[in-house]
This record gives sequence, C-alpha cells and structure tokens, in this order.
Amino acid sequence: MRLVILGPPGAGKGTQADFIVENFKTPHISTGDIFRENIKNGTDLGKKAKSYMDKGLLVPDELVIEIVKDRLSKDDVQEGFLLDGFPRTVAQAVSLDAFLEERGQSLDSVLNIDVDTDILVERAVGRRVCKTCGASYHVKYNPPKEDGVCDKDQGPLIQRDDDTEATVKTRIKVYFEQTAPLIDYYKAQGLLDNIDGKEDIDTIRKEIVEVLDGKNN
Ligand code: AP5
Ligand code: MG
Repeated sequence: MRLVILGPPGAGKGTQADFIVENFKTPHISTGDIFRENIKNGTDLGKKAKSYMDKGLLVPDELVIEIVKDRLSKDDVQEGFLLDGFPRTVAQAVSLDAFLEERGQSLDSVLNIDVDTDILVERAVGRRVCKTCGASYHVKYNPPKEDGVCDKDQGPLIQRDDDTEATVKTRIKVYFEQTAPLIDYYKAQGLLDNIDGKEDIDTIRKEIVEVLDGKNN
C-alpha cells in the first residue's frame, strides 16, 4: 500500500506510523526523522534544515521534494510506503502526484488524523524521545516503564528542540496556513480517510486497521 499520514504537529502521526509499519510491513518515510538524522550527523542538509526547524517553520519545498524523490526511487519502497510529514504543502503534493504518475503508481489512502488544536500543545510538549533509537513516549499518555529511560534500548529520553510551547504554537500556525489545504486537495481525489485523533492511542490504532483492512480487501 502507498500511504500518507497527515495531521497537525503532535497529532500522533509518528506514534501510529510505528504501528502501521509493524502491522502492515510498510517502509516508513518521515521527512522530520530524515532531517533530525542529518542534524545529528552534522551534514550540510542538517544545518540548513535546522535553521528552519528550530523556528517551527517549514524547510523549503525544493529541498524536501528532492530528498523524498530520491528516497522513493529506492528498491525497498516500490511495493509500498508510508509517508509521514510529507507532503506538507500543495506544491509538495503536486510533485508527489507527478512523480508517482511517471512510475504508473498512485496513493491508496491519506490517513488524516483529526485533532482539536487545544490538545496538540500538551501532546507535543509532553513528548520524550529516545536519544539513541528515536522511540517516542509521552510523560502522561504513553510513559516509559522507568522514568527518563527508553523501554526498548535503555537509552536516555530527551525532549525535541522544537517541542517548546512557543515553537509548537508556531508549528500549529504553519500547519493551518500551509498544510491544512491538503485535506481538501486529497478529498477531491477521493483519497482522504479521516481518523478521530482525540481518542486514545489504542482506539486510533484499531480505527486505522479497519480503514486499511478495507483497502486490502
Ligand atoms: P515532523 O517531525 O514531521 O513533526 P510534526 O509534523 O510537527 O509532527 P510531530 O512529529 O511533532 O507529531 P506527530 O504527529 O508525529 O506526533 P507523535 O506521534 O510524536 O517535522 C518537524 C519539522 O521538520 C517541521 O516543523 C519542519 O521544519 C520540518 N519538516 C518535516 N517535514 C517537512 C516537509 N515535508 N516540508 C517542510 N518541512 C518539513 O505524538 C506526539 C505526542 O503525543 C507523543 O508524546 C505521543 O506519545 C503522544 N500521543 C500520540 N497519540 C496520542 C493519543 N492518541 N493520545 C494521547 N497522546 C498521544
Ligand atoms: Mg512525528
């Protein structure tokens, strides 16, 4: 399956993506993770991306589109993928459509995690991620077994640089201005599957399984 997971910052895209990847054996492509990996490794791309990410702004389209096209050209994603955090502007979505069309491919679903803005800040600010493996937790809604320690590899849990309240608020504003128009864009293509994101993690998981099982049959 070729999937996109869409939703505002802190909606739960990454949390559900981890589950979809495991359950449906689909490679996960997160542009945010690609940038964070580049920042960690001190690459030029990482330096450029960081200057935007720290302010809560989007990395310029031309930079993001090239990275995704390159990733989507690899062998392991020819049968399917889950895009998380891309596309994020109409220009990115148009490029993705054109790229897939050239290859005789198309998307199967755009899972839109729909959450009220008031709970997004709490979700993002309470998030903790493992410094070594990237696993994500929440201090209240998805706590690790031991405080500050990753369940999977015992790595230290840290806060993302862009998870301060002020930056999260900018990211939400940017989402409404530049990314939310994609809801109508994909609705018009008959690809949008709305998921009620205010439910708990397990309930959302079940809703996604129902939607995706429906596509498989
Ligand atoms: P990115 O990494 O994509 O961040 P984002 O879109 O802001 O989304 P998040 O990762 O913050 O949230 P999420 O929806 O994955 O939530 P999560 O599952 O972790 O992008 C970061 C930056 O990179 C951007 O600002 C931009 O600068 C740049 N960038 C990336 N892609 C780009 C692109 N295509 N174009 C341009 N720039 C780009 O959950 C959040 C927390 O809530 C966790 O703690 C989790 O445990 C908890 N939680 C999850 N679900 C629930 C639930 N149902 N109930 C309670 N708690 C929950
Ligand atoms: Mg994420």
